[in-house]
Amino acid sequence: MRKGLHVAIIMDGNGRWATWRGLPRMAGHRAGVAAVRRVVEHAPALGIRWLTLYAFSSDNWRRPADEVESIFWLMRAYLRLETGRLRQHGARLEIIGRRDRLPNLLLREIGHAENATAEGSRLHLRIAIDYSSRDTITRAVARATNALPPDQPPSADVLGRMLAQALTAESGEVDLLIRTGGEKRLSDFLLWESAYAELLFTDRMWPDFDATDLDAALAEFNRRERRFGGVPVATAHSVESAR
Ligand code: IPE
Ligand code: IPE
Ligand code: MG
Repeated sequence: MRKGLHVAIIMDGNGRWATWRGLPRMAGHRAGVAAVRRVVEHAPALGIRWLTLYAFSSDNWRRPADEVESIFWLMRAYLRLETGRLRQHGARLEIIGRRDRLPNLLLREIGHAENATAEGSRLHLRIAIDYSSRDTITRAVARATNALPPDQPPSADVLGRMLAQALTAESGEVDLLIRTGGEKRLSDFLLWESAYAELLFTDRMWPDFDATDLDAALAEFNRRERRFGGVPVATAHSVESAR
């Protein structure tokens, strides 16, 4: 069994947070970076070992070019300024998502941050950039089917195992998926990995999200009973004793 929880967060609401304050959307993204720092630094104390943050979806390319450019600029600054702190906190950073469309300067900063934090073992921080879960699954299917002998049609069983291997081998399934910003949708995030995730939607805008919100989310998670298709624990016990 993997030790530690895997929490995933759809960090939504930056734009509205800024607009409501009469600020440009970019100010919301900037304030969102501070929220990332708060959450990353508080997570290990709550038993979170894997933290996957949705920072830029493959559909976010639809935004105006200047917003996209500014977001990438902010990401570069985050990586450059934060790598030392991440190391201090024992965090290992990994960027997930497509890399072939990212600007070179950002790629360079990603490579540097990933190398510099490679030894971190307290928290595995995954930041999803140009990420699409459907695209990830599609690529994993293509890889899995290529690996099979051409005359052997992949059975659901074999394909399922290969996909699980490709998609969750290291990070494991998501235990708790949080979306800030009030919307109740997944927006193409970790669809496979969240098959049995507990879902938590909060109206809090991402720039306002802090350590106490994460505490509250974990407390809610701990109150939930996960059954994975089984029966409630109390029922299972009474069935046992009735035998
Ligand atoms: C999430 O905040 C950050 C990114 C998608 C990059 P939004 O920018 O989507 O904020 P809202 O949803 O417009 O408020
Ligand atoms: C999802 O937020 C992506 C990220 C938080 C990075 P969006 O704001 O892009 O999602 P939709 O468009 O409301 O579904
Ligand atoms: Mg949004």
